Amino acid sequence: METVVRYGIVGVGMMGREHIVNLSYLRSEGAVLTSVADPHPPSLNLAVDLALSLQFPPLQVFKGHRELLESGLCDVVVVSSPNMTHFEILMDIIKHPRPHHVLVEKPLCTTVQDCKKVVKAAAKRPEILVQVGLEYRYMPPVAKLIEIVQSGTIGQIKMVSIREHRFPFLVKVNNWNRFNANTGGTLVEKCCHFFDLMRLFTVANPVRVMASGSIDVNHKDEIYDGKVPDIIDNAYVIVEFNNGSRGMLDLCMFAEGSKNEQEISVVGDIGKGEAFVPESIVRVGSRSDGRPGVITVEAQDKRIKYEGLHHGSSYLEHLDFLAAVKAQSSSDGSPAVDLNDGLLSVAIGVAGQLSIKEGRFVTIDEVLSAY
Ligand SMILES: NC(=O)c1ccc[n+]([C@@H]2O[C@H](COP(=O)([O-])OP(=O)(O)OC[C@H]3O[C@@H](n4cnc5c(N)ncnc54)[C@H](O)[C@@H]3O)[C@@H](O)[C@H]2O)c1
Repeated sequence: METVVRYGIVGVGMMGREHIVNLSYLRSEGAVLTSVADPHPPSLNLAVDLALSLQFPPLQVFKGHRELLESGLCDVVVVSSPNMTHFEILMDIIKHPRPHHVLVEKPLCTTVQDCKKVVKAAAKRPEILVQVGLEYRYMPPVAKLIEIVQSGTIGQIKMVSIREHRFPFLVKVNNWNRFNANTGGTLVEKCCHFFDLMRLFTVANPVRVMASGSIDVNHKDEIYDGKVPDIIDNAYVIVEFNNGSRGMLDLCMFAEGSKNEQEISVVGDIGKGEAFVPESIVRVGSRSDGRPGVITVEAQDKRIKYEGLHHGSSYLEHLDFLAAVKAQSSSDGSPAVDLNDGLLSVAIGVAGQLSIKEGRFVTIDEVLSAY
């Protein structure tokens, strides 16, 4: 008989409701949604209606995560509340006498200091699995490119270039995402995904970061409680890694006129691989075969039952995490994206934000040890 795994979701705004739909496609794997927590009644109402329409049993509804933890209704808690709430919620989950596995949305926390405290607390609870929602790894063209790089086809990776050209930040509940204090800054909030991918492609850890960026086009005419948003909308970020490889991020958030939202190029000493999202195309070539030898493949993952807002990556992330949770009872489960991945993706973003502010290279040691 399939093991039943009971889920609760903390924060049921846009992403929390996306998790609800994903879980509905994982019922045959044993996932059951029992409860949700959110202080904002309209979000709760939308979540309850959505869960009903997806034929989940009636949900238990709570105003906050502590009541949800006390209910004893969950084996797994998905944390999809705003970034600045992750730290307190994670610490409460990790320190709770009853063990709950956790899937926490990116970024792990908004500061390196808070990430480190979470890592330390979690080390004392080895029976708890914590996976960080760095889900771009699971997007089929990205996953295909990771597979190609890991196969050695393009050799030792020297350069990783990631271009994200997209639409501005969406409107969120109480506009939390308009201020660095709530998000950690654009390079933390959104770009932790790309710094995580750079680490995967280079199989290395970051050493130092140089960035230039500003708020040039978006949100300038917005005002909340007398304050104008301070989140940057474009940047170039260079990341140097400890094996000599380099990463570069080109971020533009006023680029709706783009065919792809992400274009990734990974160059090794033998060849080059590229991934395009949402075209879902991967290209691979070698120096020896040149342009005529470049092949183009369409990336697909037949396991995806729900594409959702992120090209099926949330579904695959859940599938992977659920398998780790189930395997844990036989003690060979481990999260695919762990707390160290979460911490380092935030550290690179924090270093980038500081580099922009102070106009200098910032070392990762500096941001990891200064706090
Ligand atoms: N994986 C991705 O690519 C991706 C995409 C979008 C958002 N996210 C992340 O998901 C999280 C939520 O973002 P969103 O877009 O859903 O925002 P949102 O504003 O749409 O929803 C956030 C919800 O959390 C609720 N909330 C606020 N404080 C809370 C608390 N203390 N406890 C419980 N709930 C609380 C709000 O009332 C709201 O309903 C953020 O961390 C964001 O970075 C990840």
